[in-house]
Amino acid sequence: MNGDKPVFHKKTLAAVLALSAALMVSGPASAKDFKVAVGDGAGGTQEALGKAFIEAFEKESGGAHSAKLFLNGQLGSEQDTVNNAAMGTLDFSILAINNITPFSPTVGTLTLPYVILSLEDAVKVTQGPIGEELVANTVRDAGVRIIGWAYSGFRVLTNSKRPVSSVADLDGLVIRVPKNEIMIETYKSWGVNPTPMAWSETFAGLQQKVVDGQDNPYITVYAMKFDEVQKYVTNIRYIFSIEPLIISESLFQDLSEKDQKAVLAAGKAATAFSETFLREQEAKIKEELVSRGMEITDPANDEAEFISLATKAVWPKFYESIGGVEKLNTILTALGRDPVK
Ligand code: MLT
Repeated sequence: MNGDKPVFHKKTLAAVLALSAALMVSGPASAKDFKVAVGDGAGGTQEALGKAFIEAFEKESGGAHSAKLFLNGQLGSEQDTVNNAAMGTLDFSILAINNITPFSPTVGTLTLPYVILSLEDAVKVTQGPIGEELVANTVRDAGVRIIGWAYSGFRVLTNSKRPVSSVADLDGLVIRVPKNEIMIETYKSWGVNPTPMAWSETFAGLQQKVVDGQDNPYITVYAMKFDEVQKYVTNIRYIFSIEPLIISESLFQDLSEKDQKAVLAAGKAATAFSETFLREQEAKIKEELVSRGMEITDPANDEAEFISLATKAVWPKFYESIGGVEKLNTILTALGRDPVK
């Protein structure tokens, strides 16, 4: 007997010390350093969401894992990152919802023009049962799981040629859009045949004047330094930009239950942070863009002309791909608006 003191044999103690030393050098055997692709540059909502996710994930996993952001499309165009995550060659990606829609068409309900009319609408739709259904559909269709949401504000039109305040003013402008059928059809409803272009090529396209304009939220315009190549902004506000954080579904399924919980909890914490970030930053960033020389125009009658043309022509074209008009009606009703007949 040795009272309550534990007894260590010399050999056991040496083995324990050797193991601790090895762990100090290399960390636990299963420790991982994950890669997070980010489409936008620094200073935007995507980076803010990514940083908040990493901080929370490292904490939630008790320091067992780490992750690193790769900004500015370094790991491929946003649409490529969906493919790569689905194949398991990329861990995480943060990208605009419109760049997931081609892989999971029901997500298109969130890119239909003039459906989401405020940050509150965006939060309600993404964080309730509608969001849960879209997450499940995306796992099924695209092999990626949405685990967090960034909210980036309304998409506004920018161009390098002239102020635009009406649909007629768009005539003759060459506008870049994402490779997203809903957005392409929306511009067509305004009489423009837009140019689909990958996000990672858009700055160069604007700089080299392959295209005159594009649309994205103020925060994204700022993060991408578009003020260097664009002067005129029009508040067409046709889509409220929602930017999910996705994880490769095969990676998610390979994680331990504890790590899955850490990923999901960190995604939730980052989502809450993103909402605060938008509220705190958007107005300041808009002012900063004006101070850098951008000119902002409000379309007449609260965008009535843009709204009427786009909703009439575009919504019905996509009822089938979003899973039926009832999917849109579920959202409209949840947001306190009249369903379509
Ligand atoms: C796009 O226009 O392709 C995206 O909205 C860009 C983004 O991810 O911010």
